[in-house]
Amino acid sequence: MCGIIGYTGSKNITDVLLKGLARLEYRGYDSAGVAVLKNKGIDVVKKQGKLCILEDELKRSPITGTAGIGHTRWATHGVPNDANAHPHRDYKEDVAIAHNGIIENYRELKQTLEKKGYGFKSETDSEVIAQLISAEYKGDLRFAVMAAAKQLKGSFAIAAIHRKEPERIVGIRKDSPLIIGLGVNENFLASDIPAVLEHTKNVVYLENNETVDMNRDSCVVYNDKDEPIEKKATKIDWNISQAEKSGYKHFMLKEIFEQPEVLKNILKKRVKNSDIVFEELKIEEDKLKKIKNVAIIACGTAYHAGLIGKYLIEKNARTPVWVDTSSEFRYRDPLVDKNSLVIVISQSGETADTLAALREAKQKGAIVLAICNVAGSSIAREADGVIYTYAGPEIAVASTKAYTAQLGVLYLFAQYLAVLRGVSDIAGTKRFLQKLKEVPALADRLLKQYQANENRMQKYAAKFHKYYLASNNKSCFLYLGRNINYPNALEGALKLKEISYISAEGYPAGEMKHGPIALIDENPWVICIAVNGETYEKMLSNIQEIKARGGIIIAIISEGNNDVRGKEAEYVIEIPKTDEIFSPLLVTLPLQLLAYHVAAEFGYDIDQPRNLAKSVTVE
Ligand code: F6R
Repeated sequence: MCGIIGYTGSKNITDVLLKGLARLEYRGYDSAGVAVLKNKGIDVVKKQGKLCILEDELKRSPITGTAGIGHTRWATHGVPNDANAHPHRDYKEDVAIAHNGIIENYRELKQTLEKKGYGFKSETDSEVIAQLISAEYKGDLRFAVMAAAKQLKGSFAIAAIHRKEPERIVGIRKDSPLIIGLGVNENFLASDIPAVLEHTKNVVYLENNETVDMNRDSCVVYNDKDEPIEKKATKIDWNISQAEKSGYKHFMLKEIFEQPEVLKNILKKRVKNSDIVFEELKIEEDKLKKIKNVAIIACGTAYHAGLIGKYLIEKNARTPVWVDTSSEFRYRDPLVDKNSLVIVISQSGETADTLAALREAKQKGAIVLAICNVAGSSIAREADGVIYTYAGPEIAVASTKAYTAQLGVLYLFAQYLAVLRGVSDIAGTKRFLQKLKEVPALADRLLKQYQANENRMQKYAAKFHKYYLASNNKSCFLYLGRNINYPNALEGALKLKEISYISAEGYPAGEMKHGPIALIDENPWVICIAVNGETYEKMLSNIQEIKARGGIIIAIISEGNNDVRGKEAEYVIEIPKTDEIFSPLLVTLPLQLLAYHVAAEFGYDIDQPRNLAKSVTVE
């Protein structure tokens, strides 16, 4: 939620800030702004709406300077408008700040400051930070920022500048991410790595309550006792093209097409001969052997990956697993202890609820393993061990390749645990890996067929659009799956609703008669995941029951299956044949593409859907 960038150096300042913000726009995009230091003053330009509006404004009235900060906003306090956009200044216009997080005690602080004559201009919680820093300023910005931060309750990543300190940026964080990008005669501060990737791959992760004090040729980190500390820089192995669209119309489409490569990469990194290797895991094998149960905790798409993880770990490692959303787990005094392995899954590694759930689990003595995409993120750092998903930067708000990568890791981890706990052996692992290794090529073939067939999913989407208009906007989607593909029904529905704003429900097909079948008439389009497997026949019965009640069916079937084609199912989507256990990795691809094309058909902003932000760093 909200993206921050800071730059001190000799490049064109607004250029660096705007490009950085463009790479952070996935974090929020309801307004954006920059503040630039120039001889003894600060120029601030901020605009409601997407970044392009700010860009146009800066083209019309360019500003230059020696250092600056920028912000892209996802509103929490106060509607999106110019006044509430960041950066915020104190009433004397000495200080400017950009903030990500929530200041819980801002009302009390504001009242105290107002009594002292500090005038406020916005409805935000963040403005109070600029005023506090100004109140604490006695000639040294770092001292002022640290003194102000001590009075704040809540979560924050802050970048601050002061008009009397023309090359200096001070940053501080607590429970919201902030990284430093180290350059030559220039330095950067940002919420996330893609913002600095064009300029440097040397990154330092700030920990909670650490402060960074930078200008173009120095960068020092201080702990909360104000002692300078040594921080090791991490060399990032992402490249800038991963953070660009590379000819695709949208990041989402690009990321869908990256999935075969992402899976291949995971297998290459993690499978050595027939051994599954997690170099950074850090949790001793002995401890994993002794666990009695597993809890998987995550939000949104990562939660759906966790649901598939339950099937995999229970099937392969014969260990009981329950899955929970982070926001529920953290508040219900969950029954985990030293005998539990708690797996937290998060693409960003910064999701506030998942981070809090991780802390809760640790406090109860559980062993916590993070499955995470962003190296060095808070979740990756605070867990006892981590397995990185190596999916590269995911920019589209709707998660696709991160999901497949989480699944890829879960397949491997389930089998790793199976061997460790004596449920499977080397021969079993060999067979499992052999089949798993076939999946990236099958996924590649499926996506290439889709490209060559330009394009079935688009046709279905166009037909749905017509139906939707003809039905007076009553048409909607229902996704049904069973067994290991049931979570894919939830994920398919989530993808569709988050970018198309159309009502979509995911259900285990066996639940239909217990309520949802009442929804069936000529309006819902029912996506039935009916690939070969243990419950295939049951799914066929569901399909017939829906057809009998007038529902419109899109069936996802295994190649060569003619049972419903041209009969009960109006439309079919074929996926390559594979063992049922591996089918979720393929089934998810047409579901993602369908969501993409429906959103495109409706003309929505696919990479930046309304009301959402990719990284939910507030509760
Ligand atoms: C859906 C989506 C969200 C995230 C969720 C968790 O497409 O992107 O539902 O999956 O906010 O985010 P992470 O994985 O970063 O913890």
